[in-house]
Amino acid sequence: MKSNGTIRIAVQRSGRLSEGSLNLLKSMGLQFETYQNRLFTRCRNMPIDILFLRDDDIPEYVQDGVADLGIVGSNLLDESNAKAKRLLSLDFGFCSLAIAVPEQSEFKTIVDLAGKKIATSYPQTLKRYLAENGVDAEVILLKGCVEVAPALEVADAICDLVSTGSTLRTNRLTVLETISKSQATLIATPNVSGEKQQLIERLLLRAGGVQEARAFKYIMFNLPEKKLEDAKALVPGCDSPTVMPLADPAMIAVHSVVEEERFWEVVEKIKECGGSGILVSPIEKFIR
Ligand code: PRP
Ligand code: ZN
Repeated sequence: MKSNGTIRIAVQRSGRLSEGSLNLLKSMGLQFETYQNRLFTRCRNMPIDILFLRDDDIPEYVQDGVADLGIVGSNLLDESNAKAKRLLSLDFGFCSLAIAVPEQSEFKTIVDLAGKKIATSYPQTLKRYLAENGVDAEVILLKGCVEVAPALEVADAICDLVSTGSTLRTNRLTVLETISKSQATLIATPNVSGEKQQLIERLLLRAGGVQEARAFKYIMFNLPEKKLEDAKALVPGCDSPTVMPLADPAMIAVHSVVEEERFWEVVEKIKECGGSGILVSPIEKFIR
């Protein structure tokens, strides 16, 4: 594959981040087809190829410029020495890197693992953590299926990603200690040509817009006119809320955006101020 100014974006082929990554790229306006285990796909409407790779390989491929952008868990960046630039945290693919032990084991704290074997695909992060905690344990590197190591008596404990927790549950393991938190992150190769840089900046603006849109809701409500100052404080919006008169001169209509996280708290306060007819709708894109 020769690049010709075409940008390559690497995403996880199959795993926790695959679906979220493709959804994000589609929300950013990239049009492409993909199904099953495709290795790459070409966008119809932009000079972009999407490469489907093992997530563990993505930081190095991006560092070496095989891919210009990549979507990976931040845990992989912490683990790898690859020199890829972190551009944006993407607000999906939340998980933690945790040390887990068999449910019925006698291990209660990390100190109990001194002299024991811990299997992991994240040896660097684990070794750092053990050193910080003064625990001398043997780290066994496994590239996959880490969760079966205790049952196979390959290790006493594991250090692996926990997302829903179902892998641990299925394998009768329980978290002993959480080492770090992770989420999907957009990364870029350190050296890009000017031509590609322009496209990367456009994509970054779009990714940010999609993310902002997910983090906000559009809200409309009616309010007694004398409560305008309360409304301004509750839903300041981008610059200030839109305020419109109603046929009843004692009332106004307020339109604004509200953070998803504060949504219910704000709605309760609007009600306390005498607000009514509260309408809420999702925002598709939001560029400040
Ligand atoms: C991680 C981890 C577990 C799974 C945990 O795999 O290795 O297999 O996710 O998720 P759960 O708590 O929801 O069950 P990852 O997606 O990184 O794939 P990989 O290990 O094949 O690279
Ligand atoms: Zn992986």
